[in-house]
Amino acid sequence: QTGMFTYDPGFMSTGSCQSAITYIDGDKGELLYRGYPIEQLATQCDYLETCYLLLYGELPNDVQKKDFVGRVTNHTMVNEQMQFFLRGFRRDAHPMAVMTGLVGALSAFYHDSTDINNPEHREISAIRLIAKMPTLVSMAYKYSMGQPYMYPKNKLGYTSNFMHMMFATPCEEYEPNDVLVRAMDRIFILHADHEQNASTSTVRLCGSSGTNPFAAIAAGVACLWGPAHGGANEAALNMLEDIQRMGGVAKIGEFVAKVKDKNSNVKLMGFGHRVYKNYDPRAKLMRETCHEVLDALGLHNDPLFKLAMALEKVALEDEYFVSRKLYPNVDFYSGIVQRAIGIPVSLFTAIFALARTVGWIAQLNEMISDPEYKIGRPRQLYTGATRRDVQAIGQR
Ligand code: SDX
Repeated sequence: QTGMFTYDPGFMSTGSCQSAITYIDGDKGELLYRGYPIEQLATQCDYLETCYLLLYGELPNDVQKKDFVGRVTNHTMVNEQMQFFLRGFRRDAHPMAVMTGLVGALSAFYHDSTDINNPEHREISAIRLIAKMPTLVSMAYKYSMGQPYMYPKNKLGYTSNFMHMMFATPCEEYEPNDVLVRAMDRIFILHADHEQNASTSTVRLCGSSGTNPFAAIAAGVACLWGPAHGGANEAALNMLEDIQRMGGVAKIGEFVAKVKDKNSNVKLMGFGHRVYKNYDPRAKLMRETCHEVLDALGLHNDPLFKLAMALEKVALEDEYFVSRKLYPNVDFYSGIVQRAIGIPVSLFTAIFALARTVGWIAQLNEMISDPEYKIGRPRQLYTGATRRDVQAIGQR
C-alpha cells in the first residue's frame, strides 16, 4: 500500500511510508536529498537550488534556477493585514507561538483558492510558503524588538534578503557579510528535510485529510517547537549558557554527572538521535561552519564555542554516551553559529521551521500526488476497560 502509512493489519500498527525524497542511513551517518550527499549540496549548492531539488527531484540548470528564483522572489511580501494579526501577540510571545499563528493565518488568505488535490495549486502554495517564511520570521523578530518591519528587497538573494529583513532598520542598511550569509544559507540547506521525522509525519497526517497546505505546514511548525525535536537547538544553547554560568569547562564533569543520574531527567541537548546511531553528518558540517564563522568574526576564542568543543570531547570519550550511541546532532552547533550571526536564541527554532518548510511541502506533495493515498488513520491496541454497564450515581 503506497501513500502515507503502510500497516500490518494483524500487528500493532508500525506507521511507515514510502518516499523518494530523503534517505538516511543512521549507522553509516549518511544523508541524501534525492540521492545527493548532504556534504556536496551544503558545499556546492545554495538553498533555493536545494529547494528545487527537493520539490522536483532534480537539481536545476541555469534557466530553471533563474525561473524558480524569480517565482519565489515575486511572492516574498505578505498581505498587509498580517501585521494586524501580529498585534494580537504580547511582544514577549515565543516566536514559535507567533509562527504557528502566522503560518496558520496564511490559510485565511489562500484557503478559498487552494485545492490540495490540484497540482497547480500545490505548486503555487509551495512557492508562496518558501517565499513568505523569511518575511514572517523576520516580522516575528521585529515585532518582539519593537522595531518596524523591513519589506523584502527583491534585488537581493533569498538568504541575503532574509538577513536584510532581520537586521536592517529604516535608519540603517544591513551590510551583508558573505561568510555569515553563506553560513545562514548552509543552516537552511542542512535543515531542509530529514525523512519521516515527527514534524514531517505531522504534516503528512494533517494534509492527508485534504486540508490546505498552509494549515498542514502550521501543524508542522507546532510539532517542531518541541525540545526533543526542533526546539533542541534553543535548548542546546541554553544548556551551554547554564554550564557557563555554573563555571564553564571546569563544571562539565558536574553537569555530565547530572545527565547520568536517571532521576535528574537532564538530557545532553543537541546529542542523540532517533535514527543516527553514529555521527549526524549535518553536525560535522555545522561544526566546520562554526569554525568559519567564528574565525571570520574573530571569535575563535568564543567561550561558548570552546565549552561546546570541550563538552563534545567529554561526551565522545565517556562510556555512558558512547554505549548509548549519543553523538552530537545538527542542533548542537547550529545554535552557536546562529548566535554568532546575531540571531536571538528564542528565534532558533523559527529558523529551523523556515528551512524545513520546503521538506514538509515536498513530502506532503509526494503523498497527495499518489493516487492511492488515503487519510491517515493510525491503528491502536486497546488496553482500556472491558464492556460494562453504567450504575446510577447513588450506586457508584
Ligand atoms: C532533531 O527525527 C529527526 O530527524 C529529527 C531531526 C530532524 O532533522 O528533523 O533530526 C531534528 O530533532 C534532532 C534531535 C534533537 N533533539 C535533541 O537534541 C534533544 C536531546 N536528544 C534526546 O531527546 C534524544 O536523543 C532523542 C529524542 C533525540 C532520541 O531519543 P531516543 O530515541 O530515546 O534515544 P535512544 O533510544 O537512542 O536513547 C538511548 C538511551 C536512553 O537511555 P537508557 O534508557 O538506555 O538508559 O540514551 C538516553 C535515553 O534516555 N538518551 C540520552 C539522550 N538521548 C538519549 N541521555 C542523555 N542525553 C541525551 N541527549
